[in-house]
Amino acid sequence: MAGAGPGLALGGLLDYKTAKFALTRNRRVGLLHRLLQLGVLGYLLGWVLLVRKGYQDTDRAPRAAVVTKLKGAAAVAGTSRRLWDAADYARPPQGEDVIFLVTNFIATAQQAQGTCPESAAVLDAVCTEDADCPMGNPVARGNGIKTGKCVMFNTTHSTCEIYGWCPVENSTLPRKPLLAEAENFTLFIKNTVHFTKFNFSKCNTLQTNDPTYFKTCLYDSFFSPSCPVFRVRDMVEAAGETFGDLALLGGSIGVRIEWDCDLDQPAARCQPQYSFSLQDRSYNFRTASYYWDSQRQLHRNLLKLYGIRFDISVHGQPHGFLLASLLLTLAGKFSIVPAAVSIGTGIAFFGAATVLCDLVLLYLDAKAEFYWKEKFEEMAMGLDFPWKTGMQCNKALQKAGGG
Ligand SMILES: *[C@@H]1O[C@H](CO)[C@@H](O)[C@H](O)[C@H]1NC(C)=O
Repeated sequence: MAGAGPGLALGGLLDYKTAKFALTRNRRVGLLHRLLQLGVLGYLLGWVLLVRKGYQDTDRAPRAAVVTKLKGAAAVAGTSRRLWDAADYARPPQGEDVIFLVTNFIATAQQAQGTCPESAAVLDAVCTEDADCPMGNPVARGNGIKTGKCVMFNTTHSTCEIYGWCPVENSTLPRKPLLAEAENFTLFIKNTVHFTKFNFSKCNTLQTNDPTYFKTCLYDSFFSPSCPVFRVRDMVEAAGETFGDLALLGGSIGVRIEWDCDLDQPAARCQPQYSFSLQDRSYNFRTASYYWDSQRQLHRNLLKLYGIRFDISVHGQPHGFLLASLLLTLAGKFSIVPAAVSIGTGIAFFGAATVLCDLVLLYLDAKAEFYWKEKFEEMAMGLDFPWKTGMQCNKALQKAGGG
């Protein structure tokens, strides 16, 4: 043994083992195997390639730029009738992917810093005597700092006197949205996407030389899909709300732009889909404009604005053909990874079919024992292995007992 060692070890290193196959003419297992293979082939061709387009690559992270613009004008009724145009009702004025349209507001004019009764709507400010209003304490969720006095707010309520912007904000909301005409305003959404993986860029607007096109058109998914000018009421209704309800207390509407293009088709057929959804049923915030009066005292006009916030998000999973991509790999545009994954999965499934047929042959078939013996040859020189010798003995014993 000692002499044969190195030679054997070297021989073992350079040996090549190849599998030996056992052929059986078992019709049932043969048929099963073919059916399984056919199934895998069908899955690969039908589902992976045709339906899921497994040969295509996708880009899940588009780079998107959004610019928005609101248009329209509304005459606001009320104490001081005045006209609101885009510079008044659109926030922020530069038109980002989140844009706010004022539909209702509470105006508190000519506030100046001084002392006045806190609003009765603030719970912490309700009082019956001066001791309820310790001097110097801010009113919790209120508008100022307590002066130490309990004063009449109106004929029925007493509240703490505060130091702050006076008079305090008036808290009665108009019953009807003040900018009811905002339902006919339009929102223009310009969106450019760039899919780095495909080096493909597209804009959702029509490339036109007609300067009046976007001033007159209105979006229609069939007739004018390249005119992304939406009427506010249409968007609210597409989100399942009525304009009158949403305009009163404000709300938030999500605008989703979906670029699910097949880039194997001509670029002109790559059109985004728009969908609208209600995100929130109330939305407001405060803003003020400041001025000095003739006595050089600072004043402000406070506005609590209610309105619709449009939140625009861009999504897309454009996909492209792999054969084209194979050619373009040279240009550094594509990777062949998705196709390799699809093909690899297919090969693995073929392997699984063989394993399944083996199991049927060796365990379930009527002649399973016969196949088992043919497939797994017991070695004659099994003396090196005590357990094996034991097994042989057992068999011999069984035979002796049985015979
Ligand atoms: C909006 O426009 C439609 C027709 O274009 C008109 O009937 C409706 O009165 C307008 N709404 C408001 C609030 O002005």
